[in-house]
Amino acid sequence: MCCGCRFAIVDGLADVTGRERQWAASEAARLMPVLGDRWRHVRGVVAQAELVASVLPASERPWLVAAAYLHDIGYVSELVATGSHALDGAVWLRARGRERLAGLVAHHSGARFEAGVRGLGAVMAAFDREESATADALTYCDLTTSAAGARVSVKERLTDIERRYGDGHVVRIAMSRAVPSLVEAVRRTELRLATASKAALR
Ligand SMILES: [Fe+2]
Repeated sequence: MCCGCRFAIVDGLADVTGRERQWAASEAARLMPVLGDRWRHVRGVVAQAELVASVLPASERPWLVAAAYLHDIGYVSELVATGSHALDGAVWLRARGRERLAGLVAHHSGARFEAGVRGLGAVMAAFDREESATADALTYCDLTTSAAGARVSVKERLTDIERRYGDGHVVRIAMSRAVPSLVEAVRRTELRLATASKAALR
């Protein structure tokens, strides 16, 4: 392959991922401002994603930011169907041909555990659960952003979720099952952040 072809392919990929990010930002801005605090949370997650994206290969960064914009789109009232916002968002994305974003959104922040508690495990399994630094980073950004968009520790975020959903609530039961895998995703991302900052100091 000549150098010109290789650069053309790289530029082409950057265009595609850049377009996904732009589309995600404009759809979120169109549908989510009515959600108030939830929209503030999403913008906080996006801001966090912009920072954390530096640990990912350049081609992955727009995917993380696009997923951050749309990870809670399933809370928009017209999209609510199953009771799992992650699944409702994923179904909406699939219908728009955004299969990778659908998988990232379906499985963000251990949503499979809530789907399981709701009896939606088989529906959730129809979406690809990628095990990647990008998927880990999305969960990290969601868990380090408060319900109203402020930067918080993972412990503060999980404690707040417990406080907002009472004993016996589906979300709380699911969260208690999800915690070990969430902690692992956060740990892997923190490790990548530490490695990147060490490399930057060299
Ligand atoms: Fe979120």
